[in-house]
Amino acid sequence: MAGFPIYRPRRLRATENLRSMIREVDLSVKDLIYPLFVGPGEKVKAEIGSLPGTYQWSVDRIMEPVDQVVQLGITAVILFGIPSYKDEEGSSAWDDEQPVQMAAKMIKKKYPELVVITDACFCEYTTHGHCGVLDADGNVDNDETLENLKKLAVSQARCGADIIAPSNMMDGYVQVMRKALDEEGFEKTAIMAYSAKFASAYYGPFRDAAGSAPGKGNRNGYQMDPCNGNEAMREIQLDIEEGADIIIIKPAMSYLDICWRAHKKFNRPLCVYNVSGEYAMIKAASQNGWIDEKKIVLETMCCFKRAGAKMIITYFALEVARWLQGK
Ligand code: PBG
Ligand code: ZN
Repeated sequence: MAGFPIYRPRRLRATENLRSMIREVDLSVKDLIYPLFVGPGEKVKAEIGSLPGTYQWSVDRIMEPVDQVVQLGITAVILFGIPSYKDEEGSSAWDDEQPVQMAAKMIKKKYPELVVITDACFCEYTTHGHCGVLDADGNVDNDETLENLKKLAVSQARCGADIIAPSNMMDGYVQVMRKALDEEGFEKTAIMAYSAKFASAYYGPFRDAAGSAPGKGNRNGYQMDPCNGNEAMREIQLDIEEGADIIIIKPAMSYLDICWRAHKKFNRPLCVYNVSGEYAMIKAASQNGWIDEKKIVLETMCCFKRAGAKMIITYFALEVARWLQGK
């Protein structure tokens, strides 16, 4: 290959048109998935303190952000629920009258084409805040939790979820969900597994928003050690073998090596979750005038695509969609 002065990489960086012609990845509004927090009560639109610009909505107002999503051309939302009651098991998670289920029904009725994803976990629904049922020693009991996950998956599918996203990192979770869904006639409902979900401090603001912080202990017994990349590949492999349709890597910004490795190794639809702490850091710094929010966010989103992500769950989705459309 000819080197300098024959080859001058700067030639193709001379104008924006040239740069855009050779750009390797493009960010599109179709890449975005917008998270929505839906809770009990009426007429609620409560801003989440640590996630400025993000709200907890009551079911009767959930169509306000959904209308915006559709108007901006975003094609998918992911629902997180705050239930009206909690217990040891998290049984409100599979109650068809709770906020996620009610919202899914309403959204699918008005916008049948909009892809509705439901987060399937128990931490918002249990009194202790762990992502499953506790055993006598206070650890999350894997196989007992799987029994409840079946009920949760079927309830969400029944209420219209197109994709169910199990996020509790139980062993065997995709397999039991797939089987339960198929047995109930929901073979068309897809599973988007949080296959590589790390035990991360970047979830802090989300736990405030969803009231899902564990009362005692931490999630290290089920979520992954942030130091482990090889193990993440094994987790992803298992979920694919069990029937996962889409793989999530979470968090995103500090875990792009995991995304890239998974992209190279599995070549399956990959989604990164740009989590609450990542959003909060960018918001806080930009509100202080220390960084340029629009530039930093668009750069970050492109980097997700470059690392192999096909989809991006992000609290910035509405803003990104507006910026992409020059609004
Ligand atoms: C539930 C769940 C969490 C997030 C998504 N689903 C929190 C957790 O595992 O504690 C985090 C999302 C975010 O930080 O934006 N298990
Ligand atoms: Zn959880």
